[in-house]
Amino acid sequence: MTSKTTSLIELPADLDCTQLPQHVAAIMDGNGRWAKQRGFPRMMGHKRGADALRDLLRCCKDWGIGALTVYAFSTENWGRSMEEVDFLMTLFENLFQLELAEMVAEEVKLEVVGDLANLPPSLYDAIDRAKTATQDNQGVRFTVAINYGGRQEIVRACQAIATQVQQGLIKAIEIDEHLLSKHLHTADLPDPDLLIRTSGEMRISNFLLWQLAYAEIYVTDTLWPDFDRRAFHKALLNYQQRHRRFGKA
Ligand code: IPE
Ligand code: IPE
Ligand code: MG
Repeated sequence: MTSKTTSLIELPADLDCTQLPQHVAAIMDGNGRWAKQRGFPRMMGHKRGADALRDLLRCCKDWGIGALTVYAFSTENWGRSMEEVDFLMTLFENLFQLELAEMVAEEVKLEVVGDLANLPPSLYDAIDRAKTATQDNQGVRFTVAINYGGRQEIVRACQAIATQVQQGLIKAIEIDEHLLSKHLHTADLPDPDLLIRTSGEMRISNFLLWQLAYAEIYVTDTLWPDFDRRAFHKALLNYQQRHRRFGKA
């Protein structure tokens, strides 16, 4: 039995396997509030948030969802305390190391997007190793956005294209949506069908500004560490009730 067949057996009966989003994006928000509600330091929320992410990734595999992209650290998140930023960088590094064997075993293909050159070198190396080790995997395409900003991504793409124009490789008139998309970090991925934001915040916070043009947006009050399989099931049921029109009547 292939893993695909196994996964579809596990899909909840009220979900239509032909109407699942191919690509789910998530803004994992509310870790700090989750911790605060329990009288814990914010860091505990981030740790539990990482557990929730691990479960969601497995759920995507089980239910046959091909791509998951999550926002882990924005270009604006450097504005947090040094203690929190350092904790998050170490947490990411540990996760890329500790979860690597599992990702390999589960056929996960990892991608990390954002301005990676400005990350701590040891984190950069851990990302590099994990990406290399999973690059030929054929399972869920798992993309983690770290030091990512949607505006910065578009500006960088424009700079790269402008350089090509300057060098005479392309003409300005040849710049179109397809070309710009190909210069984004997500060039190889279809646009997300569904964006989930936890913790009730109704904003995009500089995530995938270009790619989310026609995503269905689902906001839940659930805080990220509590976003479990049941909560994901609810989000997918809600998604399957949407009528995606793409501008048509
Ligand atoms: C999301 O949770 C995680 C990151 C942005 C790294 P928050 O840390 O933003 O949690 P809240 O919004 O303060 O509750
Ligand atoms: C968005 O959450 C960034 C991530 C989840 C990594 P924030 O908590 O940083 O967003 P704002 O500040 O509420 O918009
Ligand atoms: Mg937040």
